[in-house]
Amino acid sequence: MIYTVTLNPALDKTVEIPSLTIDSVNRITEMRTDPGGKGINVSKVIDRLGGKSIATGILGGDTGQAIQASLQAMGLETSFRFVEGETRTNLKIIDPVNHTNTDINEPGVTVSGEILDHVLAGLLAMLGENDIVVLSGSLPKGAPKDTYRTWVKACADAGARVFLDADGELLAAGIEASPYLIKPNNHELSGLLKRTLKTPEELKEAARELMAEHGIKKIVVSMGGEGALYVTADETVYAEGLKVPVGSTVGAGDSVVAALAVAEESGMSLEDTVRLSTATGAANVMCSGTQAAEYDTIKELMPGVVFQRI
Ligand SMILES: Nc1ncnc2c1ncn2[C@@H]1O[C@H](COP(=O)(O)OP(=O)(O)OP(=O)(O)O)[C@@H](O)[C@H]1O
Ligand SMILES: [Mg+2]
Repeated sequence: MIYTVTLNPALDKTVEIPSLTIDSVNRITEMRTDPGGKGINVSKVIDRLGGKSIATGILGGDTGQAIQASLQAMGLETSFRFVEGETRTNLKIIDPVNHTNTDINEPGVTVSGEILDHVLAGLLAMLGENDIVVLSGSLPKGAPKDTYRTWVKACADAGARVFLDADGELLAAGIEASPYLIKPNNHELSGLLKRTLKTPEELKEAARELMAEHGIKKIVVSMGGEGALYVTADETVYAEGLKVPVGSTVGAGDSVVAALAVAEESGMSLEDTVRLSTATGAANVMCSGTQAAEYDTIKELMPGVVFQRI
């Protein structure tokens, strides 16, 4: 089973307001809400790929209930812990006249160490040997910066393969516990190693250093439209980005993580993993917002994926 963990989810509310004006009455012409947060995005894409996952994490209040209901209506299995407080709603205002994007984000719930321990214990109780746990995204207020180190270690000790997709000090702390796979983008990897990494060769060197130092088994470095680098113990593959019309690049990385989890679970070859994840990333870029792409689109893109060993 694949478990995704979203400790800091959000209800993404996207509204369209032509000629948004401050200090005035504004009228919404279009509106949609989507359950969001990186682990939740991963679960949505796994579902599109025909895979199964259990979305776990922390929710609160009516907004938390709305997220859970919406995920269940999509047919996703969930196992969230409800805590006091209200899960954040992140308002995105799109102004099609002035071509602006304005984000207004709520603070969300605050958690204690005790709550985190409970949520982790709940996850560990479900885990079996060789399950996959995807830890991704930001942490709620109150969570220590080394939360992912604790969680990676606990899940790995329970026999799971842990995928970590986080940034900055959360990633730095998490890799100390030797996750099975990490999927930084090139900027996140540069930040982690405190040097600018641009070419596939530089990124490969950096990934190998991290694998040697921290015992990480697989590193996928995504590079936006430039594609991605897949580094395993004995191979490195560079896949070019597919040329597709861009709807929204938000969540492209999450969809790659979803494809990597599905590929790992089914024991796919590296070549097929590269094809599936590159096509999944590109297909999701073609969609607006964090909407998950259709599997048919992904399958159509797969034969066009170009990659080489480096
Ligand atoms: N403009 C694009 N055109 C084609 N493919 C893209 C584009 N942007 C991203 N992709 C695909 O999606 C993958 C992941 O993108 P990216 O490196 O931007 O992830 P990310 O920075 O982790 O994103 P996020 O964290 O917002 O989900 C890329 O490796 C590529 O395959
Ligand atoms: Mg990312």
